[in-house]
Amino acid sequence: MKIVVINGQNHKGSTWNTAKILIEGITGEKEVREFFLPRDLNRFCVGCYTCLEGREKCPFWEDKKPLEDAMLAADLLVFTTPNYCMMPSAPMKAFLDLFFTYWLTHRPHEEMFKKRAVVISTAAGAGAGKAAKLVAGNLVNWGIPKITRYGLSVNAMNWEMVPEKKKAKIRKDMGKLAKKLSKNKPMRVGVKTRALFWFCGGMQKANWGASASEKEYWQSKGWLDGKKPWK
Ligand SMILES: Cc1cc2nc3c(=O)[nH]c(=O)nc-3n(C[C@H](O)[C@H](O)[C@H](O)COP(=O)(O)O)c2cc1C
Repeated sequence: MKIVVINGQNHKGSTWNTAKILIEGITGEKEVREFFLPRDLNRFCVGCYTCLEGREKCPFWEDKKPLEDAMLAADLLVFTTPNYCMMPSAPMKAFLDLFFTYWLTHRPHEEMFKKRAVVISTAAGAGAGKAAKLVAGNLVNWGIPKITRYGLSVNAMNWEMVPEKKKAKIRKDMGKLAKKLSKNKPMRVGVKTRALFWFCGGMQKANWGASASEKEYWQSKGWLDGKKPWK
């Protein structure tokens, strides 16, 4: 299984360690590639919209490409972010902005419809679930059919401070999830993703998309003539 981890922080704290436990628990052959933000993509969207004409037209394409190539080739995407002020971290938000053309409303990738994703967030007190939900909301719109969210209050500012009882819970929860993910069953695209795809296709047909080239993209895939990006 090819696993790509996008860490919304440069440091290896409670959030990263939770993902580490998950990944270690996944059995079978695996190849893991990790990116840390902002270390591996230190850019902010400038709102120029050139990406709508083609993803390689983004002024930061050279920086984005290694992440894009890895993500497209992965079976499982793991996103980690500490909860900062009841939201995902700023680097994670910047990352999501930079990949906004992945949205079904724009230029979705067919590769996304066969992936699984896990979003992990930790907080000292409240808001981990909310931060994870915000990231997962983007991934739904990328067309990823199965997304598992894990948000946990760890009562700590770093991994060393996390009480042993919490660490035991993390090990138990991640162990269960790892067991499920290890099966690596072929993905089935559910009703929600199908409905979103159908709705966005209707938008493109009606010329309500963001640009003519976006519609051409959908046409070139055959998606406006009944073809689907999944089997
Ligand atoms: C800038 C900043 C904002 C934070 N905001 C919150 C918050 O709104 N709610 C909360 O419970 N914890 C908050 N925290 C605490 C972290 O979410 C918590 O310690 C988390 O587990 C850190 O994960 P890490 O060890 O992976 O960095 C904040 C920490 C920082 C540095």
